[in-house]
Amino acid sequence: MSKKILIFDTTLRDGEQSPGCSMNIREKLEMAKQLEKLKVNVIEAGFPAASSGDFASVKEVADAIKECSVAGLARALKTDIDRVWEAVKNAKAPRIHTFIATSDIHMRYKLKMTPEQVKANAVEMVSYAKKYCSDIEFSAEDATRSDPLFLAQLFEEVIKAGATTLNIPDTVGYTTPDEFYDFIMTIKENTPSFDKVNISVHCHNDLGLAVANSLAAAKAGANQFECTINGIGERAGNAALEELVMILDTRKDIYQMTSDIKTEEIMRSSMLLSRITGVKVQPNKAIVGENAFAHESGIHQHGVLNNKKTYEIMTPESIGLTANTMVLGKHSGKHAFEDKVKQLGYTINKEELEKAFIRFKDIADKKKEVYDRDIDAIISKESVQVPKTYTLTRFVINSGNTITSTASVIMKKEAKNIEKVSVGDGPIDAAFNAIQKIVGKKLKLEDYQLQSVTEGGDALGDALVKLSNGNGRIHTGRGLSTDVIEASIHAFINAVNKMIYEESV
Ligand code: KIV
Ligand code: ZN
Repeated sequence: MSKKILIFDTTLRDGEQSPGCSMNIREKLEMAKQLEKLKVNVIEAGFPAASSGDFASVKEVADAIKECSVAGLARALKTDIDRVWEAVKNAKAPRIHTFIATSDIHMRYKLKMTPEQVKANAVEMVSYAKKYCSDIEFSAEDATRSDPLFLAQLFEEVIKAGATTLNIPDTVGYTTPDEFYDFIMTIKENTPSFDKVNISVHCHNDLGLAVANSLAAAKAGANQFECTINGIGERAGNAALEELVMILDTRKDIYQMTSDIKTEEIMRSSMLLSRITGVKVQPNKAIVGENAFAHESGIHQHGVLNNKKTYEIMTPESIGLTANTMVLGKHSGKHAFEDKVKQLGYTINKEELEKAFIRFKDIADKKKEVYDRDIDAIISKESVQVPKTYTLTRFVINSGNTITSTASVIMKKEAKNIEKVSVGDGPIDAAFNAIQKIVGKKLKLEDYQLQSVTEGGDALGDALVKLSNGNGRIHTGRGLSTDVIEASIHAFINAVNKMIYEESV
């Protein structure tokens, strides 16, 4: 009989805390819906006490998600717990997740509390949370640098106070697989009620051991993994969901553990997160990296052609990777487009489909063949939108290697066209300067990337722009076009629209 591992996804909380990975409320909701399709057991949607924006997004996710639990994080403080409950109370399955640090160094220097005070506080806050909600998770922050016997005493008391999941985080990514196994065994042997609750682990990747440590913990008795898509998270990140799940799937013979994850949704989840945050996955990243299923060398290609199993331990289809086939052209109608969208696994509403179809027609007019990856790019561009304060009407660029580049850009705001002309260091810089004149703000370009969606001279250009407005927040925009200057202008305008939206909520 295989053991069931619960997947607690913290992409929207711990993941979102990593630099460059912040998401607005619409993006979090979109990501949460994808996590629901992926069939995670718990979505940790955020830290409601952190800000009103965090509170609103946890509430929005909790209200919308029906197929899994939604958790909010709280320090061991009544006010934090009140905020979490307010945010998650309408969830189909709400969870309050409260934590306090238990290592000597954290208790002495951060909390300035004795171990007895920490224990009393943990117990009091778990009982307080229990008045609101039956599903309570308690985390001992920096557990792996804590005394396991102290943790065992504390855990026994918080179980009695009503905790239903105990989380043992490796907050600073310090432990190793053997050490973590022994550590959990010691806690288990000294906590009489250990088997009555779910045991969770939350491993950070500072030494590259987050996944290995989580697996060692599962062997010692843990049955919940806290993890993130693409392994994003504080510093070096958290254990990567896709790696944990595919290890359990591929090496059932060793672990004899399963999860509820629909593995065919892994690639789509990874791509959606990258598109939303603009943070790319390294090409050689296990499972979801661009090269994870690519066979470059002749020897490998030859082997794979004869029998896939020569070099493939799992199939690309098992994570939702399909061959990048040519699908549609400019004569394809709406039905063919809709069929393809469904076949690729997207469920989008009528309005999104209409908009995506218009984009598709526009692109198909310029590009002879439209591939699956083009459709992916079109759909993901349409799915996460903010109000379009500005739209592009038209632009003219004058550029060359012997003249100063000039751009004339016309953008519409509230049905009124605004035109500005600017010079710049190259055509894209000139266009970006003209847009800033229209918007009336000097913005800082934090990042600009351009890549092609598929191969070939008529490939779609996918531009990414990250802007800041001097307030520490970064706003990410994307643009798609067969013309790279147009893609870049769309990306800049999209980032400006997001900035206006994000500053207004
Ligand atoms: O890393 C950590 O310890 C955490 C806890 C709040 C669970 O993120
Ligand atoms: Zn963490």
